Amino acid sequence: MTESVLMDRRSFLRSGAAMGAAAALGSTEVFAAEEKAKIRPLEGKMTYEEVRNRAREMMMPRCYVCPECNGRGPCVGQVPGFGGMGASRGFQANYDSLAAVQLNSRVVHGVHVPDTSIDFFGTKISMPVVAAPTGGTTYNMGGKLTEEEFVTAICGGCSKAGTLGAVADGIGDPLPVFEKRLETLKKLGFKAIVGLKPRLNKDIIERMKLAAQAGVVALTIDLDSAGRAARATKGQTVEPKTFEQLKELVKASPLPLLFKGIMTPDEAELCIQAGAAGIVVSNHGGRTLADTPGAAAVLPRIADKVNGRCYIMVDGTVARGTDVEKYLAMGAQCTLAGRHFVRAAHGGLADGVALFANKIRSELAVAMVLTGAQRVSEINRKMVVIPKDYLA
Ligand SMILES: Cc1cc2nc3c(=O)[nH]c(=O)nc-3n(C[C@H](O)[C@H](O)[C@H](O)COP(=O)(O)O)c2cc1C
Repeated sequence: MTESVLMDRRSFLRSGAAMGAAAALGSTEVFAAEEKAKIRPLEGKMTYEEVRNRAREMMMPRCYVCPECNGRGPCVGQVPGFGGMGASRGFQANYDSLAAVQLNSRVVHGVHVPDTSIDFFGTKISMPVVAAPTGGTTYNMGGKLTEEEFVTAICGGCSKAGTLGAVADGIGDPLPVFEKRLETLKKLGFKAIVGLKPRLNKDIIERMKLAAQAGVVALTIDLDSAGRAARATKGQTVEPKTFEQLKELVKASPLPLLFKGIMTPDEAELCIQAGAAGIVVSNHGGRTLADTPGAAAVLPRIADKVNGRCYIMVDGTVARGTDVEKYLAMGAQCTLAGRHFVRAAHGGLADGVALFANKIRSELAVAMVLTGAQRVSEINRKMVVIPKDYLA
């Protein structure tokens, strides 16, 4: 942990507000309506700093909006909540493994205004960053936004910034809750990805069909949520999937299907053999299995194994354009950002989300100029210094 982050956290924890909030940690209580009405996200013209400050008021004690979101804040171990499983080491590993990758500055070239756009399964988006599926406005985020407000903020803000939002499918959510989220998407005409849970195949297939009617571009299934069966509500279950089940899902999917939570080259190979459109290299923000390696540390070997045979997305502490450039240079085609989009939605609704998305896009453009990439497809391994143990 850097000195400045340590200092910030210490002084923050000394404050009475933090103490009171910390006492409430772990509670799944939803804020009372009057309290909810007192603090509203900002709307209209605002700075990113204002969005973060408002997000802190909205989300504490679920999220403290620390100066650096590295898994070492007061959210350690808070799942449900905003932290990571166990001692949050998987969350921290995402941050640390990405921080250990460095960018090679390259300044002798003719790149001027780089093109940050990409084609994402037939949809042109403004940058290789899409919102990660994030669910649980009450138990994970503090309950100050309704499901509808949250989906509208995430998908509306991403749409404003020319990229895709995301709609999640909470394990405990009955079908009507999921349908309501899709209705919001459809009503507002936003394009998004949908993250499905590894439910029984028949239930996944039912949800796939609903998503296909709601302007959805691609589907993910977070296979790594399979360990949460114990928390599933009665009548709902999640399970690890066999190779045969993966094949059945691919066959039934009306949309490009990506398996999320892939952390090893051999499982990437199984996804390819099952016919998946892609994979998401992800440890779920360190929120499922504790003590996993960071996504950046496993990505290069997975990308080498995949060797262009399916689409690779990755997530884990994407906060800045330079993070995006690093992940792409190591072999991903697109990234997902989770917690930062959630905070932006709580701090400034759709405008906050668009502000974060545009910030990251302009940072990516600067990084592309200073590493010599005119187009996203030109970002390559020469632009990064990768720790030796990430490679074969
Ligand atoms: C509050 C919260 C809720 C999440 N819910 C889901 C979910 O429903 N489905 C899913 O595939 N991933 C879910 N994730 C994981 C994210 O999609 C993503 O993999 C993870 O947060 C890593 O990205 P980050 O480091 O940018 O947050 C959730 C993450 C958070 C923090």
